[in-house]
Amino acid sequence: MNPSRPLGVLAALPEELGDLLATMRAESGVATRTLGQRDYHAGTVHGVPCVVTLARIGKVAAAATASALMHAFDVEALVFTGVAGGVGPAVRVGDIVVGETLLQHDMNAEPLFPRFEIPLLGRARFDADRALSAALADACERFVAEEGAALAGRFQTGHLPRVHRGLVISGDQFVASAQAVGALRAALPDALAVEMEGAAIAQLCHEYGVPCAVVRTISDTADEHASTSFTSFLTDIAGTYSTGVLRRFLAAYAAAAR
Ligand code: ADE
Repeated sequence: MNPSRPLGVLAALPEELGDLLATMRAESGVATRTLGQRDYHAGTVHGVPCVVTLARIGKVAAAATASALMHAFDVEALVFTGVAGGVGPAVRVGDIVVGETLLQHDMNAEPLFPRFEIPLLGRARFDADRALSAALADACERFVAEEGAALAGRFQTGHLPRVHRGLVISGDQFVASAQAVGALRAALPDALAVEMEGAAIAQLCHEYGVPCAVVRTISDTADEHASTSFTSFLTDIAGTYSTGVLRRFLAAYAAAAR
């Protein structure tokens, strides 16, 4: 950690940030700056200088927010937290996915470029930063070991949460049918989770050489029940996961810098 450069922490929706802003308010106070209709909150959380903001939903919103964090706030790295739909066969509601690789599943400039490839970048897949992702996965494992059983009971997910690492796919669609999720599985058999922002952030981070990491809690399985499952998970559970994971991740990030 470079104390003169903050960490950018972002989510799409307020529920997905957990208690991060309240903790920042209590720990250091918050300086807020508004740019492009978004509020960027600067302060210290669990010992780490951070700029925390809401990207809102979709790839354009995420990319614009990531760009502002890089250029107006000179962030050292970006961490995205939130919920996603489960796509991998072993990925269940209440599990956590750390996105080691990210891809935009709705990019298709065929026949000019191969399906999914970002034109002129020569690649479809963008890697998250290895060290940040490993630290995030470690925070997730500790969160699940320490709070998983209580969470499973409290929220009746019926099983202990698991932590998965691998491919997260992003597109400007809320995926909510067995047919749509089946098509994604057929085209991208290694996809673990689908959401609407992560791969846009990963593309910008690749282009600007800024490390990034993405963590997603599974709120639904992207089928016909997705919108009901998403809404109740977001309201009742998402914040508890983000709070538990980010607290452990940020405390370790601060300790590693000492
Ligand atoms: N975020 C959470 N669930 C999702 C889904 N089913 N599709 C896209 N983004 C999501």
